[in-house]
Amino acid sequence: MDKKTYYITTPIYYPSAKLHIGNTYTTVAADALARFKRLTGYDVMFLTGTDEHGQKIQRLAEAKGITPIAYVDEIVAGIKDLWKMMNVSYDKFIRTTDDYHIKAVQDIFKRLYDQGDIYKDSYEGWYCTPCESFWTETQLVNGNCPDCGRPVEKAKEEAYFFKMSKYADRLIEYIENHPEFIQPESRKNEMLNNFLKPGLQDLCVSRTSFNWGIPVTFDEKHVIYVWIDALANYITALGYGNENNDLYNKYWPADVHLVGKDILRFHTIYWPIMLMALDIPLPKQVFGHGWLLVDGGKMSKSKGNVVDPVVLVNHFGADAVRYYLLREIPFGADGLFNNEIFIKKINSDLANDLGNLLSRTCAMIEKYFDGTIPAPTAKESIDDELINLALETPKKVEERIDNLRIPEALDTIWELIGRANKYIDETTPWILAKEESKKERLGTVLYNLAEAIRFASVCISAFLPETSEKINRQLNADVTTWNSLASFDGTQAGNKVNKGELLFPRIDVEEKIAELNKLKEEQMAAVKKVEIQPIKDEITIEDFEKVDLRVVKVIECEPVKGAKKLLKLKVDLGGEERQVVSGIAKYYKPEDLIGKYVVLVANLKPVTLRGELSQGMILAASTDDDSKLFTVSIPGELPTGSIVR
Ligand code: ME8
Ligand code: MG
Repeated sequence: MDKKTYYITTPIYYPSAKLHIGNTYTTVAADALARFKRLTGYDVMFLTGTDEHGQKIQRLAEAKGITPIAYVDEIVAGIKDLWKMMNVSYDKFIRTTDDYHIKAVQDIFKRLYDQGDIYKDSYEGWYCTPCESFWTETQLVNGNCPDCGRPVEKAKEEAYFFKMSKYADRLIEYIENHPEFIQPESRKNEMLNNFLKPGLQDLCVSRTSFNWGIPVTFDEKHVIYVWIDALANYITALGYGNENNDLYNKYWPADVHLVGKDILRFHTIYWPIMLMALDIPLPKQVFGHGWLLVDGGKMSKSKGNVVDPVVLVNHFGADAVRYYLLREIPFGADGLFNNEIFIKKINSDLANDLGNLLSRTCAMIEKYFDGTIPAPTAKESIDDELINLALETPKKVEERIDNLRIPEALDTIWELIGRANKYIDETTPWILAKEESKKERLGTVLYNLAEAIRFASVCISAFLPETSEKINRQLNADVTTWNSLASFDGTQAGNKVNKGELLFPRIDVEEKIAELNKLKEEQMAAVKKVEIQPIKDEITIEDFEKVDLRVVKVIECEPVKGAKKLLKLKVDLGGEERQVVSGIAKYYKPEDLIGKYVVLVANLKPVTLRGELSQGMILAASTDDDSKLFTVSIPGELPTGSIVR
């Protein structure tokens, strides 16, 4: 029989900045679910990726003076490194700049247009660039974006629209008849009552004011709205709209789209309507998780309270971070990230409960049995409670994971760990060890402990994969399948334990917090530290007026032979043409400058540079180390020769 399939997705991330711990959360949760399903016998497709188009990315790239693709390539590489570091076991990573995706999205758009679901009109309203969202006047809150509270920009352009309203009733009916579709339940009501029932407006699905996007094939000055482009990833990644769509046939509809609550609206309104229009079945579930907060509220770059997952992994290891995210944040609600709580949890749950259980068990097997796991030949009734709990644990964990109750699944595993620790206190192996006649009983106790730890290890492998591997290595456990948890006998008596290093060394809370705080301060200081050159001596307005600054238009531009740094420009000064030599060849290609309006120091004494006459100087601003430079340009058209003062 074919294996059951499980298709899980994370949102695809904007490669606009380094990811913080809040972004990491969605993907770590998805990874735990994907690993758990693989463990329990499913054929899993776990998809993640990056959402690379849109005005926001284009502007960031422009500000850096590089192309959008160069900009995103670098950040995407960093995102992939982070997932590797966090042991994220995705099966596929989609980039919306991938050719197959672009083609499929273009086909989808064309099809929706051909069948009349998309039509052309003109758009007037407001746009929030950070959110890449359109809003009508009435949706704004105090004139700002209702989602993020930041300022919006006026947008008016010819655009294509999607007839959302046509499908609204069908969607409302679907949501009401499929209570599992939007989870948690409270978010379902919010979507129905706040967005769907008041009536859906048609959605603007193309833009013309920038070009970093997927072009509309039949109207090239339009690019496809980035959310239409992005949402489609869940099917294009499987080959939908391409020749080879085996994966699509195998895995669609998705079992669950995991998303943050801020983007639930896109996933439970626009996305289902797109799918309905394409006559594609809807995903089985969309789960909206909450925010990861830090003391003082939501993480934001400007507040400087962003928690960097890379720093945490370097200090504490991936599994400690995964553990905190998965166990301490209620899945579906907001949760707090706090260094002190985090470190205390590592000490209590990981170092103490789990780490000590393993190290004590291995140490006793070494001490009393020369490192060889003894056979369980002297069972007593006191063992039953531990054994029964172990046997029940996998079922309970599975049930909880099936309901996406991740922290509760970990609670269950830690109950078993706690029970095993209690079993040591009850059976007091060190007292048994004093009498030769109790040797078999002692062996049974240690076997039961090793076997209980094996149960815990298999169960945690989805959540803490590195730790599970370390435990298996120390116990020399070679049977680690889910099915082996059907009976309490998978540990092989006669195997040698390999007592290794502590799983989680105890951390000095105060010392570590001080260290982290210092690091944070250094990082903040590095961000702020822009060396300001001392201001020059005061001058009078008359002094300033001696400098004659003029708007000029660059009409010709070429490199100066034999001088790598220099460009030779011909500029129009209004009725007069000048030749100027400028040391900006490292920053501009000649064709980038032609047609630009820049500022010229027009009365500077002419000089000859490398044999070329230079009549004036082009104004430019640069960093101290000259790594970056921009000419001072006029952002509109003025007659050439206009005075700058
Ligand atoms: O929204 N706590 O990308 P994104 C928890 N490209 N989750 C958080 C968070 C926090 N503090 N901050 C962000 C996008 N997230 C789109 C998705 S999908 C077709 C397109 C979550 O990089 C956020 O809710 O802004 C989202 O689920 C994910 O990080 C990516 O956010
Ligand atoms: Mg976002």
